Amino acid sequence: MLEVKDIHTYYGLSHILFGVTLEVRKGEIVCVLGRNGAGKTTIMRSIMSFTPPSQGKVYFNGKDITRLPVFKIAKMGLAFVPDNRRIFPDLTVEENLDIAAHAGRGRGRSNWNKEKIYELFPPLRELDCRQGGFCSGGEQQMLAVARALMGNPDYLLLDEPLEGLAPLVVRELVVQIERLRKEGLSILITEQNVRAALKLANRVYVIDRGEVRFQGTVKELEENEEISRKYLLV
Ligand SMILES: Nc1ncnc2c1ncn2[C@@H]1O[C@H](COP(=O)(O)OP(=O)(O)O)[C@@H](O)[C@H]1O
Ligand SMILES: [Mg+2]
Repeated sequence: MLEVKDIHTYYGLSHILFGVTLEVRKGEIVCVLGRNGAGKTTIMRSIMSFTPPSQGKVYFNGKDITRLPVFKIAKMGLAFVPDNRRIFPDLTVEENLDIAAHAGRGRGRSNWNKEKIYELFPPLRELDCRQGGFCSGGEQQMLAVARALMGNPDYLLLDEPLEGLAPLVVRELVVQIERLRKEGLSILITEQNVRAALKLANRVYVIDRGEVRFQGTVKELEENEEISRKYLLV
């Protein structure tokens, strides 16, 4: 289980997160919703120790991982896919996957390899000789997720994976992310795209200006019009 307890995070003197608490239980897809600038990426950065919280704690499977070096957190089985999809544009799809395999922790519950990845993301098989920079936005997002999987994580943090993608591609990715959960991964996903996120999520947190304003099931959020109107673009 991933637990974020009452964290406060700053960029320099700017106080961004004000006591954020959330958890992702094993086998869950949890979605953090919020408008642009609400603090979604900062939550991910706090968990991964890119920008460690100055107060509060992050626990992973009961261990305090607050402020641990990023590589140690990754080795424990947490993988982060940033919103800018850091793939290598000059390497082919296959080379991008090979590099990620070398960097991975090489064990874990699941054992991902290229064949299994291509089964999950059939478009990548077709493209495996193409350079990453020449793939479409949707293909690059699949590749970014695939690279993270090559490290055999138990938990995936996906920062706005559906952002800027065409509706058809969004639907395809939603199905693939749902399949990852069935493979046993636990997933924390941030989104502004409320509709697609609600199709995926088991539970939802809504944040605004660095504070959690709502937590509950998708159904509870849908029944709460005030929250959607105040904090989300719907
Ligand atoms: N490197 C940074 N330095 C200073 N302020 C930042 C930095 N990155 C983000 N911020 C600010 O922190 C707030 C939250 O940003 P972010 O977590 O990226 O929001 P979201 O991902 O929800 O769009 C915003 O007000 C943003 O301007
Ligand atoms: Mg963001």
